[in-house]
Amino acid sequence: MSATALPIQDYALLDDEECDARIAAAKEKLGSRCVILGHHYQRDEVFKHADYSGDSLKLSRNAAASEAEYIVFCGVHFMAEVADILSRPDQISILPDLAAGCSMADMANVIKVNKCWKELSTVLDPDSMVTPVTYINSAADLKAFCGEHGGIVCTSSNAQKILEWSFARREKVLFFPDQHLGRNTGYRMGIPLEEMVTWDFDKPMGGLTEEQIRNAKIILWKGFCSVHQMFKPEHIDRFLEKHPETHVISHPEASFEVCQKSEYIGSTEAILKIVREAEPGTRWLVATELNLVNRLHDECKDQGKNVHFMSPTVCMCSTMFRTDPQHLAWVLENLVQGHVVNRISVPERESVLAKKALDNMLSIH
Ligand code: 13P
Ligand code: SF4
Repeated sequence: MSATALPIQDYALLDDEECDARIAAAKEKLGSRCVILGHHYQRDEVFKHADYSGDSLKLSRNAAASEAEYIVFCGVHFMAEVADILSRPDQISILPDLAAGCSMADMANVIKVNKCWKELSTVLDPDSMVTPVTYINSAADLKAFCGEHGGIVCTSSNAQKILEWSFARREKVLFFPDQHLGRNTGYRMGIPLEEMVTWDFDKPMGGLTEEQIRNAKIILWKGFCSVHQMFKPEHIDRFLEKHPETHVISHPEASFEVCQKSEYIGSTEAILKIVREAEPGTRWLVATELNLVNRLHDECKDQGKNVHFMSPTVCMCSTMFRTDPQHLAWVLENLVQGHVVNRISVPERESVLAKKALDNMLSIH
């Protein structure tokens, strides 16, 4: 055992093949003490080492149920925070590269959300009239805000049920940070677009009038995913001109216009399930991250299914991509040596409140 942690610099120049062998060897040594969770957007070289893969909801449940001492999250920062909040205090959540954030999650912060809540209170009583709902793609302090104000967390696979839960308690919802998931879900529930207003967090009163706030069912934070905003309705139109038989499937972080032109809308897990279960010979145009679509393409071609990426330009999630085999080998070999590097630890008070909002979500099936 080394006295100090092995430095990342020793790993930066290792080639992927060597990392692959070293990751496998370290995993073998750690055995059941370590579990690796991998989001569907992870690159192949990392994804293949995951003990469990899934969308945000499935991986949250995996983290909550895990018995392992170390939970190594190959995903982005908010996911490792959720693993820390939902696991036991003696379990350790690790993010291989601390720079793996989520640009959408960064579009909302607790100072601006508190300001919004205060401004809303000049028009109505938010604590009795508005359920705060945070998309899981958000920092732990925003989940804590929801826990403190009777709110809840949602993911892309349970957003409708979460909104139903929210409306059963209060008449309005403040939904952050992703306007598109909120709008696409609200619209599918029959809420007209005029009753879903967008809160511009850089403007006083979100840029809204008192009347707009009073009439709104959902107040949508003006955040978005930089990857999913690349998909455009004209990509669908152009593709369908050439291949009119194509089924179109989109992640709900894509824009309203793209989702309106899609036959199916679903989380990463739902996209995989629908395309995997489709008839051989079918053609699919998919609006979600490139690594997932490429893997699905390779898997489906043997069944004669054609899977295409929706955008003509490459758009992968650059922060998911930060978790590379070098960082994974580095954290695992350190664990073998008895050193924890890149631990994600949510402060106690925040964790307790955030857990309330997460538990609200996990209690809904
Ligand atoms: P899923 O929960 O559908 O996996 O989405 C997570 C995400 O970050 C999509 O951009
Ligand atoms: Fe965040 Fe978008 Fe990346 Fe998902 S794809 S992790 S929402 S930046």
